[in-house]
Amino acid sequence: MVPLPPPRPLAVTTLGVRWLHVLAATVAVGGGVLTWLRFRVEPFDGEGRDAVRLARAYEWLFWAAVGTLVMTGVGNLGAFAPTLPGGAWRATLDAKLALVVVVLVGSAVRTRLLVRVRRSAGGVPMRLLRRAYGATALGLVALLTLAEVLAHG
Ligand code: HEM
Repeated sequence: MVPLPPPRPLAVTTLGVRWLHVLAATVAVGGGVLTWLRFRVEPFDGEGRDAVRLARAYEWLFWAAVGTLVMTGVGNLGAFAPTLPGGAWRATLDAKLALVVVVLVGSAVRTRLLVRVRRSAGGVPMRLLRRAYGATALGLVALLTLAEVLAHG
């Protein structure tokens, strides 16, 4: 008699981790683009303080989303255990991880800049913040592109 294949409870876990990974990516990318756009349009109160308030809210979301992405990303890699595929897949993964590091380092600088702006009584450097959130959005969209090549390319 042929033995039945073992049950696959891990499939649901893998799907759940993947779902969380994509959800966090959506929050990070969508929020980044929205914040960048907010700095592009004329500030409602004439001082850019509304845009800074939105950016502050996004910073919380961003770091929560990135923490989730790193944790679930490692979980995604676990789905390939015990060995990762090589070739183009591996090259894409390496590029993605390198870009993650670049976005993280750049974001630490951006967050620090926002904290300094919030604490200062002076004017808001709209152009600088617009560029910072534009660069974040661009980096995240590039990451999203690499991720889709990784998963479906
Ligand atoms: C340390 C960080 C990360 C690791 C280790 C990681 C790892 C992975 C892995 C292994 C996959 C599955 C690829 C496959 O099935 O062939 C994946 C998919 C994906 N990742 Fe990441 N990732 C990380 C960060 C990110 C970031 C920052 C974003 C977005 C900004 C992102 C967005 C996605 C998306 C959208 C998918 C595709 C899901 C799908 O279409 O099924 N990941 N990631």
